[in-house]
Amino acid sequence: MWLEGLVDGVRRGSTDEWDIVSGVGITALAVASGRAIESTRPDPLIVDPYAAWFLAEAQPPVPMPDSADDPEVTGSPQGGWAAASRYIAVRSRAFDDYLQDAARSGIGQVVILASGLDTRAHRLDWPQGTTVFEIDQPAVLDFKLRVLRDRGARRACVHRPVPADLREDWAAALREAGFDRTRPTAWLAEGLLPYLPADAEERLFAEIHRLSAPGSRLAVEQVQEVEGAVAATARASRHADLRIGISQLVHADPRPPADHRLSAMGWQAESVSPVDTAARYGRDLTTDSSPGRHIRHAFAHLPAPGAQRL
Ligand SMILES: C[S@@+](CC[C@H](N)C(=O)[O-])C[C@H]1O[C@@H](n2cnc3c(N)ncnc32)[C@H](O)[C@@H]1O
Repeated sequence: MWLEGLVDGVRRGSTDEWDIVSGVGITALAVASGRAIESTRPDPLIVDPYAAWFLAEAQPPVPMPDSADDPEVTGSPQGGWAAASRYIAVRSRAFDDYLQDAARSGIGQVVILASGLDTRAHRLDWPQGTTVFEIDQPAVLDFKLRVLRDRGARRACVHRPVPADLREDWAAALREAGFDRTRPTAWLAEGLLPYLPADAEERLFAEIHRLSAPGSRLAVEQVQEVEGAVAATARASRHADLRIGISQLVHADPRPPADHRLSAMGWQAESVSPVDTAARYGRDLTTDSSPGRHIRHAFAHLPAPGAQRL
């Protein structure tokens, strides 16, 4: 337990488990705030109608805005929540597009690792029969499912929440939930890697590879320089770390780029800058205070053995 105590009123809790307002759990609420803010912009890249519900129900211990008009956003237009939400919008849309493309190409099994308050199972348009597995800590998933159920949200897929710790034997829990390793899978690791120690990240990639049938795909968000990304979020902001002490939650130990790791295991992988992705969407993430400048998105697929390399 290395995170006991309070940072700006946020309960640090234990490193072993957490709920939606403590430890790493509160970062899921922060991302929901980013999606809620983007959903109220005039020309949003994504609309997540559920994100504001979570903020209303969780009663976060520090202010978390649910709209672009909130003084927390307008008060620091180049930093803090404004910069974080602009990056989260691009990342959410990029991974929405990745998952939708995979599903439309016939991949019927999706695994969202560290799903937090991700509502893609409810808000995206999935081909009939698509199964979406979501892995996160039990209390985080319980909170999300309760809010969605109580407020009458409808699932758009076969939805399989899998409470598990991604530093432990999550593969067994996934299998018990009905995951079929003989079928191609679309995997997503968004907003996860910095919260895992380097050895757990290495095991995670090995497990994904072991469980992936040929034709599987993977998208990963990787923070190249954790301290730079955290500092960028705080820069030009009235409140460093969005007041949730992100720098105390992440592991800054070095690790190989995800695309290199995947290539070494036989995947065809490319690494993309979210700054370039943003430009395709007509958005600008080039400002100094944007965390997007310190982050890469890796996209990979696992060809059949002996398949010709592109
Ligand atoms: C920044 S949030 C991202 C949530 C979601 N992917 C999104 O983008 O909205 C980080 C999430 O990782 C989860 N997480 C971090 N470490 C984990 C672990 N060892 N096992 C399960 N979940 C974990 C947290 O509970 C939290 O929901």
